[in-house]
Amino acid sequence: MSDRKTKENIEERGVSRRDFIKNVSVGAAGAIALATIAKKDHLEAAEQVKKVEEAKPKGQPLTMEDILKNAREKLYPRCRVCHECDGVACAGEVPGMGGIGSGQSFKNNYIALKNIQLNMRTLHDVKKVDTSITLWGEKLSFPVLAAPTGGTTYNMGLKGKMTDDEYIEAVLGGCIMAGTIGFAADGIGDPVEVFEIRLKAVKKYNGKAIVTIKPRTQEEIMKRIRMIEQSGAIAFAIDIDSAGRAARALPGQTVEPKTLKQLKEIVNSTKLPFILKGIMTVDEAEMALDSGAAGIVVSNHGGRVLDYTPGVAEVLPKIAEKVKGKTIIFADGTVKYGTDVLKLMALGADAVLSGRHLLRGAVGGGKDGVALMLNRMRTELIDSMVLTGTSDIKKVNRKIIV
Ligand SMILES: Cc1cc2nc3c(=O)[nH]c(=O)nc-3n(C[C@H](O)[C@H](O)[C@H](O)COP(=O)(O)O)c2cc1C
Repeated sequence: MSDRKTKENIEERGVSRRDFIKNVSVGAAGAIALATIAKKDHLEAAEQVKKVEEAKPKGQPLTMEDILKNAREKLYPRCRVCHECDGVACAGEVPGMGGIGSGQSFKNNYIALKNIQLNMRTLHDVKKVDTSITLWGEKLSFPVLAAPTGGTTYNMGLKGKMTDDEYIEAVLGGCIMAGTIGFAADGIGDPVEVFEIRLKAVKKYNGKAIVTIKPRTQEEIMKRIRMIEQSGAIAFAIDIDSAGRAARALPGQTVEPKTLKQLKEIVNSTKLPFILKGIMTVDEAEMALDSGAAGIVVSNHGGRVLDYTPGVAEVLPKIAEKVKGKTIIFADGTVKYGTDVLKLMALGADAVLSGRHLLRGAVGGGKDGVALMLNRMRTELIDSMVLTGTSDIKKVNRKIIV
């Protein structure tokens, strides 16, 4: 039965996507479940998936299917671990894993990136490719970093299933295993003790991480910068797009938009490179440059802060046109496949961040899960570079885009 027919069948039975995806796994096991669903109820399909899993010989290496199945068990109903993470099933679920309000900003990230098409070229001599980049003296195997993701309890619903230290160790450790680095978050609802837990992990991994701070008061930011300096982190970021709660901040959790003067104060307060995360317009990218920021993240926070923003892939080229080469440009938004990485790099990013996808790797498989997902993404990137005639990821350009 075709995918379309299967979908119709599900819809006829009145089984929504939200309910359906709770009960089936993905990959090979998911395919078996999809075939079964034509004849039986979806709950029976879930039973069958379980049996397939149980019948697997023990001691086998972790597979993508195992990781996603574990992740779904732990994250449901906060995340349904859909095959395509497009913001549909979880629309409006913030706190949670979705996009805010209608979920349109999250969906726009997905749509904008999917709408970029690649020119396939095979008449060339590119057989070996270079995927490496260097960030502030740190050589990375490929240009993908784990995005900061905070709120193991209030966003991910992991209370009693995974602790904050287990989570951050999985994210940062998995990145290091795959030859790259990750961001540590500063969740708005997280007390300073949780921030300290993350810094402990950064220290444990010899500072091979970038630490994020919420756009708190200047005084609080300075305090946290001192803590980050102690951890040995490579750089720090402020997710300035978290300033939306300025008008209704809770005591001790003040966040605020920042002026150019305040940004300069932050830049001048430390030797650490500063990254401004949450830039979506050309004028603000130029302001970030003026402030002395060493990098920007073109991001709408995964569509979690303001409804109806465009997708990142839509605004990135205009921003890159103005600031490329003057500051490091990171970009994020539904990055899962190697081709997603290649597309954002071709549109002007110097490196990309992956959030929800690696979050699922961390929850479903710990650091091995994160490393496996990253390694798969790198393999896909290598293949797509050959098939677009791209020998060096640092030199990729718009010619590979249709
Ligand atoms: C559950 C969750 C928590 C997040 N927490 C933070 C955070 O604390 N700080 C931050 O800068 N971004 C945070 N983000 C945004 C991500 O860093 C990233 O910008 C966004 O999710 C887009 O990437 P993705 O589509 O690959 O998930 C969070 C995202 C999610 C899904």
